[in-house]
Amino acid sequence: AKNVGILAMDIYFPPTCVQQEALEVHDGASKGKYTIGLGQDCMAFCSEVEDVISMSLTVVTSLLEKYGIDPKQIGRLEVGSETVIDKSKSIKTFLMQIFEERGNTDIEGVDSSNACYGGTAALFNCVNWVESSSWDGRYGLVVCTDSAVYAEGPARPTGGAAAIAMLVGPDAPIAFENKLRGSYMSHAYDFYKPNLASEYPVVDGKLSQTCYLMALDSCYKLLCSKYEKLEGKQFSIADADYFVFHSPYNKLVQKSFARLVFNDVMRNASSVDEAGKQKLEPFSSLSGDESYQNRDLEKASQQVAKPLYDAKVQPSTLLPKQVGNMYTASLYAAFISVLHNKHSELSGKRVVMFSYGSGLTATMFSLQLHDGQHPFSLSNIATVMDVAGKLKARHEFPPEKFVEILKLMEHRYGGKDFVTSKDCSLLPPGTHYLTEVDSMYRRFYSKK
Ligand code: ACO
Repeated sequence: AKNVGILAMDIYFPPTCVQQEALEVHDGASKGKYTIGLGQDCMAFCSEVEDVISMSLTVVTSLLEKYGIDPKQIGRLEVGSETVIDKSKSIKTFLMQIFEERGNTDIEGVDSSNACYGGTAALFNCVNWVESSSWDGRYGLVVCTDSAVYAEGPARPTGGAAAIAMLVGPDAPIAFENKLRGSYMSHAYDFYKPNLASEYPVVDGKLSQTCYLMALDSCYKLLCSKYEKLEGKQFSIADADYFVFHSPYNKLVQKSFARLVFNDVMRNASSVDEAGKQKLEPFSSLSGDESYQNRDLEKASQQVAKPLYDAKVQPSTLLPKQVGNMYTASLYAAFISVLHNKHSELSGKRVVMFSYGSGLTATMFSLQLHDGQHPFSLSNIATVMDVAGKLKARHEFPPEKFVEILKLMEHRYGGKDFVTSKDCSLLPPGTHYLTEVDSMYRRFYSKK
């Protein structure tokens, strides 16, 4: 199989959301802290009738319908998620309902989890399967689904929720450049979920930022050296058209891209002009550790990076700023934002992706884009996903109502023997929703 990659995509995020500006006031944070300080506009959240299973049922059904894919054509289904509903039964098995009723129970794959990285692991598994000798000619399907919720405090505005489905196969308009990859994996306690009685993570916010940037540096250096071995010339930011980052909140994405610019200056690569180099060279003597904490370097590199950021990163920021951190779906929602904003001018373009999951696991990899043929064309993918329509159809909730819903969910987490309100009035037609969890913890869903 040649040019293996993503043939089709779809995204679902809850229509229920809260404005960051309103949340600042509600939380008593200083004005601009969430909107400018974190760079976030709005945050989606699951109401009491939605969860990671309902969202993934919705997005898989929608993808199959909109691209005319027979469920029998799926040979592998992989789910990435860090939202634990069951410690044994995978989310994949819930999704099997869609395939079973059409007579397809011959589907490999289960769930992958490590914080926000599970979706990337799932995607790599599917791509590797299509390229392997065990491939049977059918499609792979990857689902990233998460509901990111935090306890009251500074991390709460960095939540979000979404599910994304990606169809994987050969001759893809979004093809993997498999040789251009670098990973960084190590043991860290930056963000983890040791308390099985709570949906909330334990998080060391500052450490998680440093871990993220260290992993980024390391992956970028590896990707550069692999490119140089392969192509016999230096790699720099100039060699990719877009850089797409896992996006817990936009400020970290700004800092991350600035870090790549700093890397290029230190490597004496050609992407930065003389004036930029002069601004950043004074920081060349800092040790690695010092450079992560240095505020002047952070400011100077963000300033030097600004024009490149506007061209190569800004188009990926729409959904992460509007929906929030979608954990495993966050990187792919950022990529979808590029498709939404630029679909008619992406043929021949290279996109560098950076996936990060706390704990920690990270990979930088590269995609090569081609227009593709209907229904698997970049323009059709953008049309099917209808990002603008979905954003417009949302319902803003006041922060008080958002907090009330989180309290109810805390109470219900891990619980049994309850029925939901079954109120699906705000959900778009075709959306799956939770109706009941019975005395045996079995979950029941309906479709609007
Ligand atoms: N106007 C403008 N900017 C402001 C204002 C204001 N009124 N007040 C504060 N800020 C800025 C700060 O200067 C800071 O920006 P800087 O980093 O450029 O200096 C920013 O807002 C954040 O404020 P802090 O006080 O530094 O941080 P806070 O204690 O609010 O916590 C954090 C932020 C750590 C991101 C927290 O939300 C968190 O822990 N989130 C979850 C962890 C996370 O997402 N980590 C990322 C990688 S791991 C993952 O994906 C889960």
